[in-house]
Amino acid sequence: MKWCVIGAGGIADRRTIPALLQDEGSTLVAVMDRNPATAKAMGEKYGVPYFADEEEMLSTVACDAVYIGTPVFCHKAQIELAVKYRRHVFVEKPIAMNATEAKEILELCKKADIQLTVGYMMKHHSLHEKAKEIILAGGIGTPNSVRAQFTCWYPDVPGAWRQKKATGGGGAFMDLGVHCVELLEYLLDDEIDEVKALYSTRTFSYEVEDGAVIIFRTKGGVLGHVDVAFNIPDAASESKLELYGTAGYIEARGTLGQEECGKLTHLYAPQGAYDAAQSRTVSEPVTYTPEGKNLYLDQIRRFREEVASGKRDYFYAERAVQVQEVVDQIYKQ
Ligand SMILES: NC(=O)c1ccc[n+]([C@@H]2O[C@H](COP(=O)([O-])OP(=O)(O)OC[C@H]3O[C@@H](n4cnc5c(N)ncnc54)[C@H](O)[C@@H]3O)[C@@H](O)[C@H]2O)c1
Repeated sequence: MKWCVIGAGGIADRRTIPALLQDEGSTLVAVMDRNPATAKAMGEKYGVPYFADEEEMLSTVACDAVYIGTPVFCHKAQIELAVKYRRHVFVEKPIAMNATEAKEILELCKKADIQLTVGYMMKHHSLHEKAKEIILAGGIGTPNSVRAQFTCWYPDVPGAWRQKKATGGGGAFMDLGVHCVELLEYLLDDEIDEVKALYSTRTFSYEVEDGAVIIFRTKGGVLGHVDVAFNIPDAASESKLELYGTAGYIEARGTLGQEECGKLTHLYAPQGAYDAAQSRTVSEPVTYTPEGKNLYLDQIRRFREEVASGKRDYFYAERAVQVQEVVDQIYKQ
């Protein structure tokens, strides 16, 4: 698969292009960045033609797919351009600024028979795959109560697109919370139906929120909460993921992020009768550690295989659209 990259200087350079170069079935053929100096630097670094205009690249370079790693406000127009030139689309999360844009993107890709995927790579983490396997095998019984916490340190940066509503679409929830929602929905194979949210900008002076907490109920009745923050130091920021069910729990620490880190513990503890004493003499949890996969490589391979199969699969793109519906509900409150 021949790839062009739009927005080559950020996560594309840090994670996606290096992963793409490791994939035996992928070739990078050109890069584009709005900043001409970045475009040049990336073109020279990866030894490919470079552009500062996406249409010039797409109209002159033959490729099968486009990876879009630009700020969120750019996604929709760049996807429309990729579809115009009949390139399959791998866009970074979140898919778009809001659910309306997200639905239009999905419909456009479906109509044009263009494969669309969104960069929610955390479901490829081997410990999250393990969590899914445990849940499907009944290892925690019926999930009832779930939580996710994902935080980082993101101080005021003049001009940063993530710190303005008009360019980022939102703050900590739009950036970090969407990963938590997407992952929990994947693990539960369920969708958030109703959500209540609180958020604030407390530590920094930017326009969007630097912290948010939501509580929710899924269509299947699972209750949960997600909290995200831009104002917790990275060294103090160990992510948490917890899923409790009628027969046990799964707890993951440090697994939310760009690398396959962290550990997962699982306790199977089914209970028969009511125990008024609530004695907690249960078996030891089992601990799992990651395989050390590259999450970005995994998602590139899956996307390439989807495209090669010729069968379009919009399941995860639909989920990404639904995540934006949850985000819209949150920002209305
Ligand atoms: N999945 C992940 O792990 C992950 C991690 C970080 C960011 N992201 C997502 O990736 C996207 C980009 O985030 P980032 O952190 O790389 O941002 P960034 O600002 O660090 O990098 C964006 C790059 O796009 C370029 N750019 C800006 N406007 C452009 C335009 N109109 N056309 C072409 N290039 C343009 C910039 O010059 C820059 O090189 C966002 O959607 C973000 O949410 C995903």
